[in-house]
Amino acid sequence: MQAASSNWKPNLGGRLPAQIRRALPIYFGVILFIFFLSYGNAFTPSFEVAHVKKRSYSSQGVLSTGLAPRPSKGFPKKIWQTWKIDPLGFEERDLTCARTWTQKNPGHRYEVLTDNNDVYYVETHFGPEGINRSDIVEVYRSLTAKIIKADLLRYLVMYVEGGVYADIDVEALKPIDRFIPERYSAADIDMVIGVEIDQPEFAAHAILGPKSMSFCQWTFMCKPGLPVMLRLIKNITVWLENLSKKQGVPISDLKLDFDEVISGTGPSAFTTAVLAEMSIKTGQDVNWDTFHNIPESKVVGGVLVLTVEAFAAGQGHSDSGNHNARTALVKHRYHASKWPTAHPRYKHPVYDEVEKCNWEVDCVKMWDYNTALFEGLSEEEKQKLIIEKNQADMQKQAEDTELARKLEQYEAARLANEVANPAPAPLLQPAMQVPVEAFPSPQPQGFPAQVARGFPALQPVAAFPPAT
Ligand SMILES: *[C@@H]1O[C@H](CO)[C@@H](O)[C@H](O)[C@H]1NC(C)=O
Ligand SMILES: *[C@@H]1O[C@H](CO)[C@@H](O)[C@H](O)[C@H]1NC(C)=O
Ligand SMILES: *[C@@H]1O[C@H](CO)[C@@H](O)[C@H](O)[C@H]1NC(C)=O
Repeated sequence: MQAASSNWKPNLGGRLPAQIRRALPIYFGVILFIFFLSYGNAFTPSFEVAHVKKRSYSSQGVLSTGLAPRPSKGFPKKIWQTWKIDPLGFEERDLTCARTWTQKNPGHRYEVLTDNNDVYYVETHFGPEGINRSDIVEVYRSLTAKIIKADLLRYLVMYVEGGVYADIDVEALKPIDRFIPERYSAADIDMVIGVEIDQPEFAAHAILGPKSMSFCQWTFMCKPGLPVMLRLIKNITVWLENLSKKQGVPISDLKLDFDEVISGTGPSAFTTAVLAEMSIKTGQDVNWDTFHNIPESKVVGGVLVLTVEAFAAGQGHSDSGNHNARTALVKHRYHASKWPTAHPRYKHPVYDEVEKCNWEVDCVKMWDYNTALFEGLSEEEKQKLIIEKNQADMQKQAEDTELARKLEQYEAARLANEVANPAPAPLLQPAMQVPVEAFPSPQPQGFPAQVARGFPALQPVAAFPPAT
């Protein structure tokens, strides 16, 4: 290096004017600086720290010692949903739900991919102008099963752009800022997911087993370009192509039952892919044990896994608590979850769907016992039970219809009565509307008069016979 410079320095000196020679160190400095800027990525850590420090000094006058979030390493501030139509045409309940996201996250962009623009989106980003994966575009284009398209589309969007994905019937309870607990830095996390079903005691169950341990994919958050998303997408396309061969029909004509949807593209597929990725990242075999009954969120291989109540509170199983929990981030309203109609679950002709047990151990045991017993019966006995079951169903349906009719009649009579007597004395009159003069003598106990009137059962304590 020294030899080289001493070689050309005299040369230069011979040709360049003295002013330029004196300025050479400055040129060098400028070139070095430009080099540094262009290859900034290679120096990211020191560069970022310097940047953060400077900002902390100037904004607060003190050096913040905490790990400041690094914007370039954060999650894209974007919320994604997919639905038949765009939000300007949403019906009221979808609008109300969608607004919870925009209102709680004013700093985020919001976009809905629809049945009319989804293919264009996929072609743009996965076609030759995008990452050039025509295999993926082809599969997406030929899909007709709505739930499969919806599952796949969320993975495609999360791979391309990242941000938060939420199903159309999911309400935001907390701002997205709350997805990552304070003890973590967003820079260290690639993905935020939550537990949905945590019932490993059913792992060996023929029907429930494959669904008994899963992460939730009706809401999750990603940074763009995660290998796990692309692997999941790729696996789904291969699975669909396999199935197409097996059924001997094109992908557009595939027949899929409930369990195939769940394990092919739904939560089970998502969970398998995430666990596989965690294993790759950590070099260890990561399985569900790591997430069973977790008392707090944890990060494994760059994936932050939140406890079940974060995205799946109030399920009545998996110890999911309720939506009032501080850690409950969203509420799944399920009003758009009608897809099982098109992809039926296994339904026993007498004992119905085991899913109706909602993961209750005794109920599942009873279902298993009954269905096993049923298998041992003669065809004749089976038919007899099935007929009885159908009759019971019809009876129940008739009763339900009758009850609904009576309720309707009652309601009609009540309304008619209200019209005939425009000012009926309501049973529970709001306090503000009760004229004071209507109660000339306030009760000595201090009970509000209308309480004594509206709730006849409420008695002053003194009225109870003394305990003996
Ligand atoms: C896209 O990939 C195909 C092979 O799958 C290749 O033939 C084609 O040249 C690629 N196009 C671009 C724009 O890279
Ligand atoms: C697809 O089929 C091949 C060959 O039978 C098999 O090895 C592979 O595991 C299958 N992949 C998926 C995702 O179903
Ligand atoms: C790929 O899909 C198949 C079939 O659904 C599944 O058995 C396998 O575990 C999946 N692999 C990953 C990494 O998702």
